[in-house]
Amino acid sequence: PPLESILNLYDFERLASLILSNQAWAYYSSAADDEITLRENHLAYHRLFFKPRVLVDVSNIDLKTEMLGEPTEVPFYVTATALCKLGNPNEGEKDIARGCGLAHKLVPQMLSTLASCSPDEVAEAKVKSEQLQWYQLYINSDRKITRNLVKHVEELGYKAIFVTVDAPLMGSREKDLKIKFSTTKQGPKIMKETEKLEDTEKVTHGASQALSEFIDPSITWKDIKELQKITKLPIVIKGIQRREDVIKAAEVGCSGVVLSNHGGRQLDFSRAPIEVLAETMPELKKRGLDQHFDVFIDGGIRRGTDIIKALCLGAKGVGLGRPFLYANSCYGKEGVAKAIELLTKEMETSMKLLGAQSVKDLNESFLDLSALHQK
Ligand code: FNR
Repeated sequence: PPLESILNLYDFERLASLILSNQAWAYYSSAADDEITLRENHLAYHRLFFKPRVLVDVSNIDLKTEMLGEPTEVPFYVTATALCKLGNPNEGEKDIARGCGLAHKLVPQMLSTLASCSPDEVAEAKVKSEQLQWYQLYINSDRKITRNLVKHVEELGYKAIFVTVDAPLMGSREKDLKIKFSTTKQGPKIMKETEKLEDTEKVTHGASQALSEFIDPSITWKDIKELQKITKLPIVIKGIQRREDVIKAAEVGCSGVVLSNHGGRQLDFSRAPIEVLAETMPELKKRGLDQHFDVFIDGGIRRGTDIIKALCLGAKGVGLGRPFLYANSCYGKEGVAKAIELLTKEMETSMKLLGAQSVKDLNESFLDLSALHQK
């Protein structure tokens, strides 16, 4: 179908379910065990309703903000997802970079350590030099690989390191486990390079099982401190799921956290990040830890209204994973740009109706929070 027929992010998902290979669909759409957290991530947004303010001049809506000290045109970003070539075999993550630069608003892109394309290729695919790119880091048991990688992406112009800490191993995603996966043919670029997979065919049950091998399950807060020594880039911890850990991250000098349960792909029955956000921000503010410390959130965000709700509760930026994978798989860079336009439009429309002129205006007073914790 023509791209014009896509009206919202769910349309990309429906189309992807029809056209993707069984393998790509299983890897992209799956989540852990009974997929309770996958559903809950989005459902939690349904428990938040708005309290609009009227008689506010909303002729112009300003979506600009700052993330990690850099100006951005919108308060959302494309988060890291591995193996983009399963859905877009030729261009993979490069088309995400292009889409992020082609849309009428520039959008930051976080590149996965387990991407199908190298950080060099993705940096080169930028359409505009001021496009923001961040690097998502999995710490390898060989710390030399990690040190070299961090130095390398810093040189390439990536502007932050997001260390993922919710995946000491990959969760049990049963749809994915049912499908055979060849690391040699389909594995991430970095495994082929560092583990010299080119000539040793390895076949696993599903993609995630193969990817676990790259990650060190023994990392602790000590490794975060080590990382701070090897890079000047802002370090953000991705995959935090409780208030206490957010406070710890701020206290050890990180630049931020992503409240995330990996899109429901890790521990099933993890709580929805939006709930964790609601109980975290008041405590951070009380302790004066919310300055120069950005709280991001991802998981289940599909509409402009979802983004607005997270911003009202104090998120600095909001990440989307699967919707961009599906848009990229169905239409390549144009699909990615279209997803950005749709989200931008939805945000503008809803902010006008809410009576909020800019991102700065958004606060808790716009939300009815009474049902959020009633599951
Ligand atoms: C992911 N996610 C992820 N996170 C990460 O830190 N490194 C990675 O390599 C990946 N890979 C990955 C692959 C696929 C197919 C998915 C769906 C997700 C998690 C991702 O960054 C993010 O936390 C979730 O995708 C957010 O949830 P939604 O937006 O997909 O609901």
